[in-house]
Amino acid sequence: NLATHLGDFQFANPLMNASGVYCYDQLQLDAMAASDAGTLTTKSATMASRLGNPEPRYAHLALGSINSMGLPNLGLPYYLDYALDFQNTHPTKPIFMSIAGLSHADNIAMAHMINDNEFNGLTELNLSCPNVPGKPQVAYDLEATATLLDDIFSFFSKPMGVKLPPYFDLAQFDEMAAILNRYPLIYVNSINSLGNGLWVNPDSDTVAIKPKGGFGGIGGDYAKPIALANVRAFAQRLKPEIQIIGTGGVKSGRDVYDLLLCGASLVQVGTALYEEGPEIFTRLNAELDQELTKKGLTELDSVIGQLKTL
Ligand code: DHB
Repeated sequence: NLATHLGDFQFANPLMNASGVYCYDQLQLDAMAASDAGTLTTKSATMASRLGNPEPRYAHLALGSINSMGLPNLGLPYYLDYALDFQNTHPTKPIFMSIAGLSHADNIAMAHMINDNEFNGLTELNLSCPNVPGKPQVAYDLEATATLLDDIFSFFSKPMGVKLPPYFDLAQFDEMAAILNRYPLIYVNSINSLGNGLWVNPDSDTVAIKPKGGFGGIGGDYAKPIALANVRAFAQRLKPEIQIIGTGGVKSGRDVYDLLLCGASLVQVGTALYEEGPEIFTRLNAELDQELTKKGLTELDSVIGQLKTL
């Protein structure tokens, strides 16, 4: 039994896509919905549709990926229409809708649109897109984060979580957790890609992607230890009402299990899903099940947060 929950939302298993992968349009979202993932999220939306950055903007690396997509998306109304249709046809699969406003005002306008709608799934406020030139990652600015959450929760009444970038100092976890604990968030999703990495091609002496002179978000194996640390650090600091989604470097059932141990209730897959496609969820569920069997466990509640220290 791989069932899990986030607040009152129930999921058949803890797996889903990380926003940005397999969720751009109806074709990709339908493929995710038909997979063995417990649920799915839509691509981070802005109010208006965007073409994103020039290509090539994603590259596969030996140990993961680098991307600077630049928020290509079909606009919030498209994803809201999809989600409203989805919740009618899949009443037992709560869908996530990700928003990543280009400004404070854009985020507020999108939160209003979601709040004033029949949408009954989860809203993910993405505070960590590293790829729009001139737009810093909101969650690296504590004051901007608090101001945005103050303004959103002055009216927003639906279940919401935030997507965070990786942090690397324990004082940063203390400060961000103290801010997040002030709001009725139902989850924190750690981590987004490692922002603004760079890769060098030894044959051509060039970068791997075109936007931003080659700088881009790093995912895959590179991200896993950082993801484990961020999930664990927030699990130790957030109030119990705020659960955690673990994201970063998942490509095996053991990787899923490790994020659960660190405190994640759900686990998202980015780079490995991009490389393997939605069939990956069949394999990951089977491998996670084997991991539980190996340990003599029958439910995820016996794993979540149970990491041992020395
Ligand atoms: C994009 C990348 C991200 O990591 C994110 O959180 C949102 C958008 C992008 O480049 O499209």
